[in-house]
Amino acid sequence: MTADALAQELRVLGEGFVPTTVARAPGRVNLIGDHTDYTGGLVLPMAIDRWTEVRVMPNPARDVVRLVSDVEPEHAVVPVDVREPHAVQPAWARYVAGIVAQVRPATGFVGKVTSTVPSGAGLSSSAALEVALALALGAPDTDPVELARLCQRAEHAAVGVPSGIMDQLTSIAGRDGHALLIDCHTLTVEAVPVPPEAEVVVVHSGQPRTLAGSAYAERVAQCAAAEAEVGPLRLASPDDVDRIADPVIRARARHVVGENARVRAFAAALAAADLTTAGRLMDASHESLREDFAVSTGALDRLVTRLRATPGVFGARLTGAGFGGCVVALCRPGALAGEGWVVRPVSGASVTGRR
Ligand code: GLA
Repeated sequence: MTADALAQELRVLGEGFVPTTVARAPGRVNLIGDHTDYTGGLVLPMAIDRWTEVRVMPNPARDVVRLVSDVEPEHAVVPVDVREPHAVQPAWARYVAGIVAQVRPATGFVGKVTSTVPSGAGLSSSAALEVALALALGAPDTDPVELARLCQRAEHAAVGVPSGIMDQLTSIAGRDGHALLIDCHTLTVEAVPVPPEAEVVVVHSGQPRTLAGSAYAERVAQCAAAEAEVGPLRLASPDDVDRIADPVIRARARHVVGENARVRAFAAALAAADLTTAGRLMDASHESLREDFAVSTGALDRLVTRLRATPGVFGARLTGAGFGGCVVALCRPGALAGEGWVVRPVSGASVTGRR
């Protein structure tokens, strides 16, 4: 690259920056159904009123995508023909590289990223970035499932963790005022209204969480081991689970089979505005994630216990992968005032200015 080309690119990011495309994608919180998506099970998340926004303009002078972020000190500078997204520096640029490798834009771009999705909290800040950037760089937006799969492949290439499709699909398919009942086998999405008398509050445990450093991949492998013995867990009965020889694999499978049943029951309870039942199911989900799936921590358990003891709280559980991060609580409006973030269900990603 010539010094001139770089100078021009940086100028473009300054006064000459006139974005041609603006894309925005929300984070998500999962109300119930964790560690079920990668075995084709059921999940019930909602897209939340926290967004990542990506504004870009083409820069034909250079074959790189350069992004500045309001939360990351270093620029992401990714060649449009990037080969190994996981090796890119700084770490946040790996998600950019993952998307660039999937979309393969025909020209370079410069752009700016702003975000109100907290990172390391289990609220899918990475999925929000992936989805917004994919749309900004021109990925097809006609089929939500295809776009979610593209972003999921980008995430796998970026961090090398075999994560499921829940986060990306929720960020894309979110519906205002609704949670989403997603069947991760058929990839069908059913909107379930969140009743106005329910408030969803997300509280951070104070313990940061990263998927890459966690035992997430080990849990995925343990579920695969269970399926090798009894077939797809989404179709397995409690009796099938009891036949699994290894006690650890049996416990992992028991969580998945029980969690799928809880998601169904929760969707029915929410639709009927039966918040007491919904809250009990969230409590049971946490116990199962703690005891059988072993993805909770002392900090998460203490927080869940404290929130549950607060008047007006129907239920509370860790949300997302676990190993730190956030707890989600269902409560009467105002019951957890001052405790974290009240989040509201919103529509999925949007893009303006694409040709
Ligand atoms: C992470 C993954 C999701 C899902 C959850 C656990 O958020 O990205 O695909 O597996 O953990 O439910």
